[in-house]
Amino acid sequence: MSSRAPDRWWRSAAIYQIYPRSFADGNGDGVGDLAGIRAHLGFLADLGVDAVWVNPWYASPMADAGYDVADYRAIDPLFGTLPEAELLIRDAHDLGIRIIVDIVPNHCSDAHVWFKEALQAGPGAAVRELFWFRPGRGERGELPPNNWRSIFGGPAWTRTKNPDGLPGEWYLHLFAPGQPDLNWENPKVREDFEDVLRFWFDRGADGVRIDSAALLVKDPALADFDPADPPHPHPFADRDEVHEVYRSWRRIADSYPEPRALIGEVWLPEAPESFVRYLRSDELHTAFNFDFLGCPWTTPAFRKAIDDGIALHAPVGAPATWVLSNHDVIRHVTRYGRADTRFSLGYRQLGAPSDLALGTRRARAAVLLLLALPGSAYIYQGEELGLFEVEDIPRELRQDPMFHQTGGENLGRDGCRVPMPWSGEAPPFGFSPAGATAPPWLPQPAAWTAYTVARQQGEPGSMLELYRSALRLRRREPDLGDGPLRWLTAAADVLSFARGDAFACVVNLSRTEVALPPHRKIILASAPVTNGMLATDAAAWLRTA
Ligand code: GLC
Repeated sequence: MSSRAPDRWWRSAAIYQIYPRSFADGNGDGVGDLAGIRAHLGFLADLGVDAVWVNPWYASPMADAGYDVADYRAIDPLFGTLPEAELLIRDAHDLGIRIIVDIVPNHCSDAHVWFKEALQAGPGAAVRELFWFRPGRGERGELPPNNWRSIFGGPAWTRTKNPDGLPGEWYLHLFAPGQPDLNWENPKVREDFEDVLRFWFDRGADGVRIDSAALLVKDPALADFDPADPPHPHPFADRDEVHEVYRSWRRIADSYPEPRALIGEVWLPEAPESFVRYLRSDELHTAFNFDFLGCPWTTPAFRKAIDDGIALHAPVGAPATWVLSNHDVIRHVTRYGRADTRFSLGYRQLGAPSDLALGTRRARAAVLLLLALPGSAYIYQGEELGLFEVEDIPRELRQDPMFHQTGGENLGRDGCRVPMPWSGEAPPFGFSPAGATAPPWLPQPAAWTAYTVARQQGEPGSMLELYRSALRLRRREPDLGDGPLRWLTAAADVLSFARGDAFACVVNLSRTEVALPPHRKIILASAPVTNGMLATDAAAWLRTA
């Protein structure tokens, strides 16, 4: 069966990630919303993407930009309403675009009804079993129950007050204090999430992106551990029991006439063999490949990430995925323009100087690499405009809990979340409608006047037109998307591979221009090719037969 068959779309899809706060503001309050997304679906259809993944749009106090969910079945009023979400899904489908919603199962919000009830009910109440409440250590319970640290910085525990106002138990939160971890040992948690999945699948969602997918299950012993030398199994990452959860989710996904896709955010950089267990045929369909995202701009690193990625997925028959940027990482135009081009979630080099012209040239080459690799590919909103990381957001305007929980030591992720520039010469660059009552929720740099959609549209040589051409061609090329890849002999520091018998992709990471291999035609190039020579930091797609 072709990987383009409707029930296998996720094996080849080009998926566009929408960060709803920052995509487009329909009502003028300075925050993106569903009306904004609906108004720009035509842009996405023209861009040529197959699916859209929307970051959380649920009711939320926004302690972590919506990853703190108060009600998984309601849209936050900041973004719109449930009927609008239903219309959005319908409109997208009419344009041939699939919709992936973001499910956040590891934790909810402290404003979730369960958590509010748990606080009100006090210690010993059954509803507290839906979370991880524990008495503190120390004489008066004044110390956290164990030494676990929040992924955003600071302790992973917050003390509560009892209904009588006195200090009470502590609760676990691997992320912000507003994100209490759920107890996946509890059948009620499991049943409720199964119902949430059906809720969105019944409304037409074509798949779910599963947040922090490897963290759900905790060792109930909740023992101290040394994070530099964690025990096996780890007390909260990648525990065996989590796979049962995804087996039951897969049964639900498969019960629909057009099976729904399960896409995991499985972050296990040190343990590829554990990562791939999530992709066994009765679990998730795909998971993000963060190794590729973190590659420094060198041939051996990319070659290894590509080979390892393909080899890792092969035994389970799952397609590989490829991604360069998302809402948690430094935009790749900025990364690729630095002296140190590496990235990992644990290694965020912040504020290092970046040569944006260099980063942009490399980003142009990188997207031709991304879209030629076997499997599905993700595009984070704004990368099609070549947006750079905004590093000079004033501290008082920063919103990311990562910034606040590290006392500002880590600037956090706001720099890749700045609202999109659509048109015009000054902020809000068409992000908000004329007459908006509030400025964009994060300030846009003046330099974005040269990056707007309106400026780049129809402009030969613009990043937007490169993405458009590449996506359009990728759809038409029968050998792109899912399928095998064959490396071709190439000069040092050049990546060159064939897809099928008639297509090749060549990326020049060396310091000199290189001759393209024999070809009939250049289908697309990230930089002008003269006399068959491919420039440094450029890529080309070739018709070879
Ligand atoms: C994931 C999300 C990130 C969020 C975190 C907690 O890593 O991508 O944005 O802060 O989970 O939900």
